[in-house]
Amino acid sequence: MVIGTGGTIAGAATRPGAHLGYQAGALAAQALVDAVPALAGRAIEAHSLAQIDSSDMDHATWVALARAVAAHLARPEVAGVVVTHGTDTLEETAVFLHHTVAATKPVVMTAAMRPATAPSPDGPQNLLDAVTLAATPGVQGVLLAFGGAVYAGTEVRKVHGYRLEAFTAGDAGPLALRQDGRLRVLRAWPMVGGDAVAALAVPVADWPVVDIVTSHAGARGEGLAALVAAGARGIVIAGTGNGSVHHALLAAAEAAQARGVRVRRASRCMAGGVVEGGGRAADALPSAGDATPAQARVRLLLELLRSS
Ligand code: SIN
Repeated sequence: MVIGTGGTIAGAATRPGAHLGYQAGALAAQALVDAVPALAGRAIEAHSLAQIDSSDMDHATWVALARAVAAHLARPEVAGVVVTHGTDTLEETAVFLHHTVAATKPVVMTAAMRPATAPSPDGPQNLLDAVTLAATPGVQGVLLAFGGAVYAGTEVRKVHGYRLEAFTAGDAGPLALRQDGRLRVLRAWPMVGGDAVAALAVPVADWPVVDIVTSHAGARGEGLAALVAAGARGIVIAGTGNGSVHHALLAAAEAAQARGVRVRRASRCMAGGVVEGGGRAADALPSAGDATPAQARVRLLLELLRSS
């Protein structure tokens, strides 16, 4: 089952040969499958759930996607589900799906950095790799097939805005490599998630607000305080380095905590998360571990939903 949500993999440019200036999500999922000759004759169903630029991803689409993925996984004849997605927020959707779908069969996300109309698009190979992985017996969990590698959905992060090598799994590294059509498995498939399936029953209008604030030179606490005043029940701080937080922002975060707001401390570094045990004042704030700030926001949102 291939479920399309949009992104550059489904992007179409009007300027011949363009890598930029395209419309993301222009093509339907079936068109993406039809464009890969090696998929001809395979038992594939394709459905376009959305056709958006993933920078516009929203909670309602996440819920619809998680429900659709779970429904298709439950069909005995479905070996696995492929989700085509924009690269920009893929790491967030991957974490959301990990927690809201019990992926006892593979749920393989894939994407592209070049639109489908590019002279040499990366989407068709990524889609072929994703479908092949989704049909492989014994695979489980939410995964990303991209650029010849397979990553755990919860570990993946976008690290480049233009290059084809746009994703890594930070310190964890890939789970597997696709080499000349063969799958070279390096690590065990991820644990099956689904611990927050119940969140899907809560109307998204009632979901708690969780925002991200970045720490930087000359940071102020006023922005964080304004978000709390505007109703934020959770704040993720994209801290500097190993999750350090400017003292002005830290004071605002502590004041927010005192009002019952949950605060998490992530790292704004491109690779790597927060290693605990520093003993600084900011280290008293709970850390987001290896999660990127955007992934930490999803986790905190689901944590708040679970406890509401
Ligand atoms: C998007 O995230 O939808 C656009 C960018 C991309 O897919 O690379």
